[in-house]
Amino acid sequence: MATRAVEGAADPRLSGRAVKRIAFDEETIAARVRELGGEITAAYPDGKLLVLGLLKGSFIFLSDLVRQISRPLQVDFLVAASYGDAMVSSGTVRLVYDPETELEGKHILLVEDIVDSGRTLNRLMAILEERKPRSLEICALLHKRIADGLKHETKFTGFDAPNEFLVGYGLDHAENFRHLPYIASLQ
Ligand code: PRP
Repeated sequence: MATRAVEGAADPRLSGRAVKRIAFDEETIAARVRELGGEITAAYPDGKLLVLGLLKGSFIFLSDLVRQISRPLQVDFLVAASYGDAMVSSGTVRLVYDPETELEGKHILLVEDIVDSGRTLNRLMAILEERKPRSLEICALLHKRIADGLKHETKFTGFDAPNEFLVGYGLDHAENFRHLPYIASLQ
């Protein structure tokens, strides 16, 4: 309901910026996150599970997702930033924070907000594989399906996403709009 109101009137959270359209509303996201939690619970019948969130974009998705996973797990984070505030991914990825949790021998589930060019994942998966996890899989909320040369496909995917600049539910433009409870494309 709140989402529909946004389309007809300015959302004060947008600071005057107009959204082109709501791509995924709150209810749609919540329903899919519940399903993903069930899929992940079923996929890991045993062993230690570490849910590794890629900051900053995954922070809302991860916090909702782990509450839908009905088995023991641990949580840690990675920070890998591409340079600049451009609306196109630059392709240069730097690791700003490395998880302190031991990865060896654990099921690692890397949680991403969106797969765009796939460069971030290609770089990170190579780093994580060196830590000798028991298994290493990716859960992405959004997947644009435009990545050329993605070396590891996502095991769990929330939605195929339109090739538009998306913000909200953790996704930003120049660090703004991460707090929107829905996902919208910018004008
Ligand atoms: C964004 C997004 C993904 C990545 C996807 O991160 O959160 O991690 O880009 O793009 P790619 O598939 O083209 O590599 P960003 O570097 O903007 O950092 P953020 O998570 O802090 O927003």
